[in-house]
Order: sequence, then C-alpha cells, then structure tokens
Amino acid sequence: MEQQLKQLQTEALTQIETAADLKQLNDVRVAYLGKKGPVTEVLKGMGKLSAEERPKMGALANEVRGAIASAIEAKQTTLEQQAIQEQLAKETVDITLPGRPVKTGNHHPLTRVVEEIEDLFIGMGYSVAEGPEVEKDYYNFEALNLPKGHPARDMQDSFYITEDILLRTHTSPVQARTMEKNTEKGPVKIICPGKVFRRDNDDATHSHQFMQIEGLAVDENISMGDLKGTLETFMKKVFGEDREIRLRPSFFPFTEPSVEVDVSCMCGGKGCNICKHTGWIEVLGAGMVHPNVLEMAGYDSEKYTGFAFGIGAERIAMLKYGIDDIRLFYTDDLRFLKQFSVHE
Ligand code: PHE
Repeated sequence: MEQQLKQLQTEALTQIETAADLKQLNDVRVAYLGKKGPVTEVLKGMGKLSAEERPKMGALANEVRGAIASAIEAKQTTLEQQAIQEQLAKETVDITLPGRPVKTGNHHPLTRVVEEIEDLFIGMGYSVAEGPEVEKDYYNFEALNLPKGHPARDMQDSFYITEDILLRTHTSPVQARTMEKNTEKGPVKIICPGKVFRRDNDDATHSHQFMQIEGLAVDENISMGDLKGTLETFMKKVFGEDREIRLRPSFFPFTEPSVEVDVSCMCGGKGCNICKHTGWIEVLGAGMVHPNVLEMAGYDSEKYTGFAFGIGAERIAMLKYGIDDIRLFYTDDLRFLKQFSVHE
C-alpha cells in the first residue's frame, strides 16, 4: 500500500508539473484528491492491514494528499501569474507604431504675408491696431483732410451704406481713430492690417475687396528720413537684402509731402514683364502726416510730426510668391491654396 501511495504521489506530481493551464490543473485536483479519487480508493484497503500498520498508512496518505495539494497550489499561483503576464503582453500599446497622419490645413498666403509684416513691425516697437470695416464717412474721409465734395474722394470709388456710413475704402481711418483715442496726444506707432472695399470691377489686378496694411508713426522730430529708412528695412526684409527702394512724388490729401514707393525688381534692373521693363515695381503709398490730420485728431502739429504708409497685402504676396491673378486669393481653389502648405 505504501508503494501504491508513493506511486500515486509521483504520478500526480508529474501531471501537476505538466499541466498547461488552470483547467488542466483542476482536472488533476479532481482526479487525485476527489472523493472517488485513487487515494481514497487505496485507503479502502486499510481494513486488511494490521492495527500497527493502519495509523502509519493513514499518516502516509495524509502526507501524500498534502504534498499533492501544495504542489497544486504552487502550480496554480504560477499559472495565474503567467495568465496575467500574457494578458498584459496582449494589451500592451505599441507606442513605436507611427500614428495615422491627420490632415491639417495651412495658413492662407495672405495671412502669412500679413503675419510676417506684423512680426517685423512689432520688432521695431509698433503695436497692431484694428478698426471697423463698416466705417463712418468722417473717419474714412473727413478726418483725413477729405471734406465732403473734395474731388480726391473720387480716387476711391466707395460702397456707401447710408450717406454717412460706408465700407472703408482704405485702412487710413485707423490713423485718425488711433490718434483721436490717444488721450495723452503723445507718440504713436501702429500698424493696422485689414480688409478694404472699393467699387472696382474684378480682374487679374483688381478686387472689390482686398487687404491693406496701414502704418503710422507720430512723435517729435519724425522726418521723411525716418519714413525712408523704415520702408527700406521693410522691403529688404520682405523681398531680400539686395532690394532697393525709390520714392516718387505723389498726392494724397492726408499726407504732405506724399510719395509713391517703388521697390527694385527681382530682374535686377535688366527689365522683365513684372516691372514692365522699368526695373522698378510700385508697391505702396506714403507720406508725412498732413498737419490738418494731426490737428483734427487733437495733436499739436507744431510739436508733433509723423509718417504714414498704406500697402496692398495682395500685391506684396503676388510679388513674393509669383502669383499672377489677385482673384486666386478669394476663390478658395484648393489647388492654389495647397501650394502654400508648410506640411507637404
Ligand atoms: N490710403 C492710401 C490708399 O489707400 C495709401 C496711403 C496710406 C497713402 C497712408 C499715404 C499714407 O491709397
């Protein structure tokens, strides 16, 4: 009987050892330790043993059960641990796997040009100002030295909403508004990008809505030299260090003297279609703020002088990126817009 019991223990222990999962292990438990299991079966033969041997066999049987039970327990812990590890391995997120690319948009070419110019002027101590697109006749014209009936009003065909309200024809009203708002009547340095509107027929170079960037610097002793230096820095930054500018006399009612500013062409003066074989490209209007404009905004024009300029953002973008039709900025053609993506 001793032999049989030991034999059973060895058998059970190998089966426990080779059990591959918790289910197999449970089968082993039921088979060896269950009521109808072989150990119980062997013990049924106890009656045939001598009174001396019986307790010995009883003790041995308990030992065998105990050994099997603790082997099962140990194996169970190992298998459970193994199952947890497998589960964890299965659920691991592979962080090295490249993500699916997300389609992103990009900035409109005009926005890029405007932001570049803003950054440049912010670096020179300017702040960015804003004004309404639906404007009073007073700020769009009168406060800029263009009283009602002034012939120069015809330079800019306007969309009137009422007799006194119109869509602003330029960003210059922001000059008047900024100076008027400044209660200290001291120095001012602003740039103002924004939409403007004119009654033009749209074609490759005209758009009834376009974008201007206005600049205004007012302080004591501001001179034409400051204007020229500022615009030269501006143009070299936008188009390249090799570019030059020239000023030509012009007329605006709100500046005196007034100038048109040309930038040297990328053809280097050899003459090309862009500069119409002149070597120069007209880019903006500018001048010294008219004393009347300063006075109307409450400034002492004896003490303060200033310069102002107004530039068409589309024109800059067209020259910078070689775009030949202003309408492309406003027709949302993705084939055009995607060319300005920084992601592809
Ligand atoms: N407002 C003028 C225009 O739209 C440009 C300009 C601005 C000229 C400031 C001089 C000074 O044509």
